[in-house]
Amino acid sequence: MMRTSLLFVSRSCQAVHRLQPNTFFSPMSALSRHQRITVLRNSSTHSCEADRSYYITTPIFYVNASPHLGHLYSAVTADCVHRYKLLQGFNSKFTTGTDEHGLKIQQAAEAAGKDPLTFCTDVSERFKHLFNSCNISYTDYIRTSEQRHQQAVKHFWSVLCDKGLIYKGSYEGWYSTQDESFLTALQVENALDSSGKEIKVSLESGHKVEWMKEENYMFRLSAFRSQLLDWLRGNPRAVQPEPFYHAVLRWLQEDLPDLSVSRQRSRLQWGIPVPGDAEQTIYVWLDALVNYLTVAGYPDKHDQWWNVVHHVVGKDILKFHAIYWPAFLLGAGLPLPQVIYVHSHWTVGGKKMSKSVGNVVDPLERSQMFTTDGMRYFLLRQGVPESDCDYTDNKVIKLLNAELADSLGGLLNRCTAPALNPAQVYPFFCPQSFPREQEGRAVVEDYNMLDAVRSLPAVVELHYESMHAYKALEAIAACVRKTNGFVQRHAPWKLDRRDSEDQRWLDTIIHVSLECLRTYGTLLQPIVPGISNKLLSRLGVRPGERRWADVNFLPRYQGMDCPFEGRALGSDCGVLFRRLESPNLDKQKPKKTKTKISK
Ligand code: MSP
Repeated sequence: MMRTSLLFVSRSCQAVHRLQPNTFFSPMSALSRHQRITVLRNSSTHSCEADRSYYITTPIFYVNASPHLGHLYSAVTADCVHRYKLLQGFNSKFTTGTDEHGLKIQQAAEAAGKDPLTFCTDVSERFKHLFNSCNISYTDYIRTSEQRHQQAVKHFWSVLCDKGLIYKGSYEGWYSTQDESFLTALQVENALDSSGKEIKVSLESGHKVEWMKEENYMFRLSAFRSQLLDWLRGNPRAVQPEPFYHAVLRWLQEDLPDLSVSRQRSRLQWGIPVPGDAEQTIYVWLDALVNYLTVAGYPDKHDQWWNVVHHVVGKDILKFHAIYWPAFLLGAGLPLPQVIYVHSHWTVGGKKMSKSVGNVVDPLERSQMFTTDGMRYFLLRQGVPESDCDYTDNKVIKLLNAELADSLGGLLNRCTAPALNPAQVYPFFCPQSFPREQEGRAVVEDYNMLDAVRSLPAVVELHYESMHAYKALEAIAACVRKTNGFVQRHAPWKLDRRDSEDQRWLDTIIHVSLECLRTYGTLLQPIVPGISNKLLSRLGVRPGERRWADVNFLPRYQGMDCPFEGRALGSDCGVLFRRLESPNLDKQKPKKTKTKISK
């Protein structure tokens, strides 16, 4: 093997370069300067034991109605990051749960003729069931009706009170029960209800608002404007992606009146009473936001988690998380969240999916139709945090058939088929067949592919870190296509096994392809844990060999040992992902089934 200087073909310009061995194949070389800095900054924390805790949260879900696909999207987004952090060796805490107090829930329970707690328990269980069925690997599930939470909220309230940040006042203004939100005159507009009656609605959500006038407790939100601006300006990555960061900055330029943080008990009984005033109930958003602290162990020992908290939220609840919540935390003398990751909405027919519009998609039903991993893959592959995405079943079918069944499943099927690999082992790599300088049978595109796959973990890491799973999946899908191209180009099934040189080349083609598949399987674990497990097991990769640090693509190419060479493959468990059928689609374009792994 040549070790002093190397020839390699750059992915971008297809030119041949001479490089030093230690710079060859560097995954970092595929990234821009900004990307390299981000990866280095993130990976520098890996070596520091003290920084290895990570805490990620989903919003807690209202229990006024059953879960829909939009809710699952929030949960899958956070689950992906949690699983990725675990693979990286972090001690990651991941929480989700249900938001059970407030007028909206009180009214929903009344309408259902149930007492509020029974009503909440029923719907909370439905969320839990959905998350368990979809492999949402939360480490804590919080319900705001729990004792531990009530204690945390009361303590938090008392701290704000003791600091003089809460005062008794009179609130007069618009309130949306659907959003549990107070609105200024500039945030509402005229509209007509279904019977043609003139009403006022929230400009942002379109939900009906009502005029209310009450004796309430007020929080001195207005006093926090400059501290909030300082925090955001000093931490430009505190709210991501960037458009949402700018939206928060814009909101902070607008009027920031003090916030009503209680409701009269006569109107709202279903909530936590204000400590020392039985006539008032704590505002449901203050109550709900504290859930993140409750789970961290507040008020007793929350530092380990609170210093590393990351929130995933939908764009509709950004103001609560990026303005009210940091202001409450500043008031209570607690650290602010590290990052608030924001995602956009799933729409159906162009309208945000919601019970009130009546266009909800049932995530449990769809997971049964398209499989749990299929739905996870679809949501994270199609969901773009910066923009809304319209849902249709046909999109799911087309995407999953193309990328999971045909491309990834087809590749695994081809490369493990007994026809090509009768011994059912991870074959040997022959450095003479695929030398580091272009003298063997490999061609320019093959070297390009190796370079792309070698770079892939760093690229995927960058996108997982910024919660852009769709970009990670785009990069993986592009590499899977390249590997299929590699196999197709060299048609190993046409080689003459009686010829020892052909046999070595055949083994090398399969070895390289399995190394690609091992890389894809490892990197896909946060997205499709079931499929990844099936794929890695088929390759004979043991559970302890599936961490991020284990990827180490194609060590033989760099003259190092490969622990998998010569090892028996795992047993054949059938197709990796079965093609989905749609009568309409199949009529349009008949396709042959390729994903059956040959016996
Ligand atoms: N209970 C509050 C959150 C309190 S957190 C302290 C709440 N609940 S919710 O059930 O209405 O929404 C929970 C999450 O689901 C939010 O992140 C919201 O953006 C998300 N989604 C609700 N509908 C959605 C879509 N149609 N599409 C994507 N996500 C959506 O708000």
